[in-house]
Amino acid sequence: MDDAGVDGRRRDGPVADDEAVEPPREFSERAVASDAGADDAFAAEGPGAWRRAADLLDWEREYEAVLDDGDPPFYKWFPDGRLNASVNCVDRHLDERRNQLAIRWFGKRGERRSYTYLDLHREVNALAAGLRELGVEEDDVVTLYLPMVPELPIAMLACARVGAPHNVVFAGLSAEALATRLDAADSSYLVTCDGYYRREDAFNQKSKADNARLRADTDLDATVVVDRLGDALDVSLGDDEHGYEALVDAHDGETVEPVPRDATDLLFVMYTSGTTGRPKGVEHATGGYLSHVAWTTRNVLDVRPEDTYWCAADIGWITGHSYGVYGPLSVGTTTLLYEGSPDYPDRDRVWDLIERNAVSVFYTSPTAIRSFMKWGAEYPDRHDLSSIRLLGTVGESITPKAWRWYREHVGGGEAPIVDTWWQTETGAIALATLPGITPMKPGKVGPPLPGIDARVVDEDGAPVDPGEPGYLTIGSPWPGMLRGLREGDERYRREYWIEAEDGWRYRTGDGATVDEDGYVTILGRVDDVINVRAQRFNTAELESAIVGVGGVTEAAVVSDDDGEIVAYVTTRSDVEPDEALKAAIGEELGREVGDLARPDRTVFTPDLPKTRSGKIMRRLLEDIARDEEFGNVSALRNPEVVGEIESSVRESN
Ligand code: WT7
Repeated sequence: MDDAGVDGRRRDGPVADDEAVEPPREFSERAVASDAGADDAFAAEGPGAWRRAADLLDWEREYEAVLDDGDPPFYKWFPDGRLNASVNCVDRHLDERRNQLAIRWFGKRGERRSYTYLDLHREVNALAAGLRELGVEEDDVVTLYLPMVPELPIAMLACARVGAPHNVVFAGLSAEALATRLDAADSSYLVTCDGYYRREDAFNQKSKADNARLRADTDLDATVVVDRLGDALDVSLGDDEHGYEALVDAHDGETVEPVPRDATDLLFVMYTSGTTGRPKGVEHATGGYLSHVAWTTRNVLDVRPEDTYWCAADIGWITGHSYGVYGPLSVGTTTLLYEGSPDYPDRDRVWDLIERNAVSVFYTSPTAIRSFMKWGAEYPDRHDLSSIRLLGTVGESITPKAWRWYREHVGGGEAPIVDTWWQTETGAIALATLPGITPMKPGKVGPPLPGIDARVVDEDGAPVDPGEPGYLTIGSPWPGMLRGLREGDERYRREYWIEAEDGWRYRTGDGATVDEDGYVTILGRVDDVINVRAQRFNTAELESAIVGVGGVTEAAVVSDDDGEIVAYVTTRSDVEPDEALKAAIGEELGREVGDLARPDRTVFTPDLPKTRSGKIMRRLLEDIARDEEFGNVSALRNPEVVGEIESSVRESN
């Protein structure tokens, strides 16, 4: 592996693991956030400080109050303000930069499409008019089941224009998952496509959507189908199904008056895994969400209109919503959209895209960075990446080694890295360094952003000492926070909030430590959620699918240190635990959840380690998968299985 060289060179190099790295002077001098006193001022002002964020937006009616916290934990940000998200992401840029690129798209087959802000305005309006014609009204939830094509952000903005909340379902999720989300969101409108390319093959997305429709209880009033594949795949459309292109053509040149939304009105819902098997619908409100996203896009990611900016996350997840669509477009920059995978057609793809587009800010995940390291530094090294000014990472902890590799080979040894911590529920970045101001510490996400009251606490809510593990919580509300759950107020309260003596505290579900300088290190989830491939899964959701396979008795799912899925499976005594069974387990997960939930390793074991009360010791299984030291196992009901499991894991490697 070639990164050994980097490590070797760096071992006596300038940066020790826990050492702070100052922001480069040249960067600081020009950074958007350059006011070293900002933190203190922010803290002193309380919630009112977030006017800075709201004032980045255009409001149809000015807000008066910043925060209504009269009924915790149901907080209302900018409660009497009204605005429209599509106006903020499109219309308001027309005066100054209508001919500037808003979206630059690269397809899997090398296709390119570019949309200026004027183009974007035209198509968003045409589609908004089309959706109206099909019956979409304010507050109707529209489900979007599309891969990384420009029609996805366009459909999000068209929904926002008419005040219809969108519900984006990641294109790789299964028909079953789509059906569940259509029902849970009570959504009778769907925008999907004929299919898309997976490597060389044309993959039929429409037939997945058709299957979902059969399974869902909710009737669809209308479906819009994007023609992504042209002649490569013909799908026939039913009576209530409409081709996207014909719909947009029919309304080309029309304008739709943007519907002013209350700041607290729903902008979108996004389903994510929680503490139970069923995904929950996280609701984001228009005003607070967009303010927080715009503020962090500028101040943390340092993005300005003249940049070409690339967030490599799929729009099907929150990172793509906040930092692939709403953040960059609200600040009026050019956002790059890439349909393909990073190693197709070759491992130069990402670096080639950065080079040919002179990308200045690049935002990706540690999972991706690990792949880049594995493939080797020769790929980035043979490209001119000198356009890069800032790098970002999100989704899981990055090791100091990966951090250094990223900075060295992608950031030219110079670019600051922002390690950004946040969640679907926080809506926007909550912990990170301000790149022009705060020193970085490789492997640590940094302190909370100004205005975010994050604390690492013990079981009783008392702050832990530096270096001691605790729970990451947020002590007061912040604008990007979820306004609630689709499943109702009670579920929202129960899932996230603790009522303490000093007020309500939001529970993130993460374990963390904090150092003397207030820098937070994330230790991982403390609940039954695993983060793999930069995505979040509930262990029970995956395990119940595995147990659904004939012959399987029990399953436990963990993530290893490559962010991959390891499934431990026990079988009935009369069943042969063989490759065919492994394949069946993969198939079932693909069918129930989506292909990205297929285990990378399936380990058959005679038994799973359990506590005396019968709870599976997932932590221990995780340590074994990661080849890490683990403590005394004598308190287990069945300590004797541990040795057997260890050897099965070794065999599976
Ligand atoms: C969970 C949220 C919105 C980010 C994409 C995933 C983990 C996120 C970091 C980071 C260590 C991180 C946490 C968090 N996480 N960012 N910089 N360092 N861990 O969003 O699916 O809602 O998952 O991702 O565990 O709780 P998500």
